[in-house]
Amino acid sequence: QALQSLHTFALPHTCRDVVQIEDPQQLRAVDFSQTFCVLGAGSNTVFIDDFIGIVVRINNKGVDILEHDTFWDVEVAAGENWHTLVTGLLAKGIPGLENLVLIPGTVGAAPVQNIGAYGVELAQFIEYVDGFNIDTQSFERLNRTQCQFGYRDSVFKHALKNQFVITQVGLRLNKCWQPTLNYGPLQTLDEKTVTALQVSDTVVAIRQSKLPDPEILPNAGSFFKNPVISEAHYQALLAKYANMPAYSAGIGQRKLAAGWLIEQAGLKGYSVSGVRVYEKQALVLVNDGHSSGSALCEVIQHVQQRVARQFEIQLEHEVRLIGRAGEVSVQEKSN
Ligand code: EPU
Repeated sequence: QALQSLHTFALPHTCRDVVQIEDPQQLRAVDFSQTFCVLGAGSNTVFIDDFIGIVVRINNKGVDILEHDTFWDVEVAAGENWHTLVTGLLAKGIPGLENLVLIPGTVGAAPVQNIGAYGVELAQFIEYVDGFNIDTQSFERLNRTQCQFGYRDSVFKHALKNQFVITQVGLRLNKCWQPTLNYGPLQTLDEKTVTALQVSDTVVAIRQSKLPDPEILPNAGSFFKNPVISEAHYQALLAKYANMPAYSAGIGQRKLAAGWLIEQAGLKGYSVSGVRVYEKQALVLVNDGHSSGSALCEVIQHVQQRVARQFEIQLEHEVRLIGRAGEVSVQEKSN
């Protein structure tokens, strides 16, 4: 079956079969002993080859809101669209997720990489994540601690990788709302008077000015993680690049902006056979519609090599790459 329309980078690869899950109970009948890949909207996964396995697509729907004195509990099916959830809650007067507006993908995929933007991370709102444990063939609930959230990271990328299919997510949104405006362009808003809708509108405007719409120009959002380096390494780089943006990342560590590093390496607009480093945001790779998995891997490696040579920093791709038999790192693919 064709995969082009099932992932936003839209490479023209195929898989053996696509199983659509509308009700979590259907997961009990899926034969997980074969090679498989669980997929939501495919906005953080790129199929770089024809995949020999089955794709299990999570499509269940439903949003349940329970109002309490000081907070709302919101239980959301994994197949719901994240952006629609955020705007739907804002329309009902439920704030909290406005900084995370316009992030592509499904609600079920959101905890896997702990989606984050403009100073806010999903983990802050998670009460629990429910899913199907493939090993035990049973449905389980994990609380926030058990999810082991980190920067673009969670237990679903490690101990529970390929073992836990997320079916619904429980969020808690506080009635005592405070805007998060510490991120650059949001600092111009007045924290005393600003509404959640105004924050959301501002985030939408910023995102639309630098991030390409996957419907128009296929892409998978930020392709690389922002790297964390030691304070000593940071100081050495700062001596050379006085304007280098950086964020605190715990004691003795700094997080750098991978997009800035890639731009400094002169790679904006760099392209190989239809895969290109996006001109308005160098952290994003785009597909002009005629590219291939091998062209993408070439671009990834070129970016990694150039940044490593200039800054002695090894960029990791954040996007999940699926090769013939399952997930691969770009190094494995080219060996
Ligand atoms: N920058 C450049 N050149 C570029 C890109 C960025 O100089 O080509 C500089 C910017 O001027 C800014 C800094 O780098 O000083 C950071 O850039 P930006 O604010 O665009 O954010 P980012 O660090 O590149 C991260 C997330 C985004 C998220 C934004 C906003 C990661 C991997 N990416 O990008 O998340 O929307 O911050 O919070 O953490 C995603 O994960 O798919 C994603 C889009």
